[in-house]
Amino acid sequence: MTQDELKTLVGQAALQHVPEGEIIGVGTGSTVNKFIEALATIKDSIRGAVSSSVASTERLQALGIEVFDANSVDSLGVYVDGADEIDDRGYMVKGGGAALTREKIVAALAKRFVCIVDESKCVSQLGRFPLPVEVIPMAASRISHQFDAMGAHAVLREVDGQPLVTDNGQHILDVHGLQIQDPLAFEQQVNQWPGVVTVGVFALQRAHVALIGTASGVKTKTY
Ligand code: A5P
Repeated sequence: MTQDELKTLVGQAALQHVPEGEIIGVGTGSTVNKFIEALATIKDSIRGAVSSSVASTERLQALGIEVFDANSVDSLGVYVDGADEIDDRGYMVKGGGAALTREKIVAALAKRFVCIVDESKCVSQLGRFPLPVEVIPMAASRISHQFDAMGAHAVLREVDGQPLVTDNGQHILDVHGLQIQDPLAFEQQVNQWPGVVTVGVFALQRAHVALIGTASGVKTKTY
């Protein structure tokens, strides 16, 4: 099975975790795009969605799914999103699609995080995938030096030779060479650095369920 087929498989499997008659949280990325396509087939059984990016909002609306402002809901039954890495405790690295801040906000609103990935995303320790960190532009250099001091190396994410600008008007550092042994402590530490908007470690907002696409079908893990 191709990676694309595995993404389709888990996108469809996530429908089983969608509560009827509710507003649900929807993430961002190529795996979630498969979920959004699947969700369109049952759109009359949900009230709508809170979305984690402009890109997902446009897809949802194009398929006739109503998108609500995060401020208009008190809580969400479920949040469905992909990940760049997930470990065996449900801790994740996210932000490869630059949507990490809104993803963390919507995840925090949800009672359950259902993570949909193909098996290439499963790791024993977070850090192989360069860690995305959304930063206030004027703090980028100082934050890079703080990662240097940890023995890592931060690279400003660019598009066409210009710094990438997130949906929130900020920049992204991709941090190479980290070995994140204690994701909870790491997330809390980096969160405190001035100018950090969001660190792409999702430990406080970890997954409760992972649907993992493998050649032999979808494996479900609960944490
Ligand atoms: C978006 O910012 C990310 O957190 C995505 O959830 C993550 O990059 C996974 O994306 P894919 O499903 O495209 O691999």
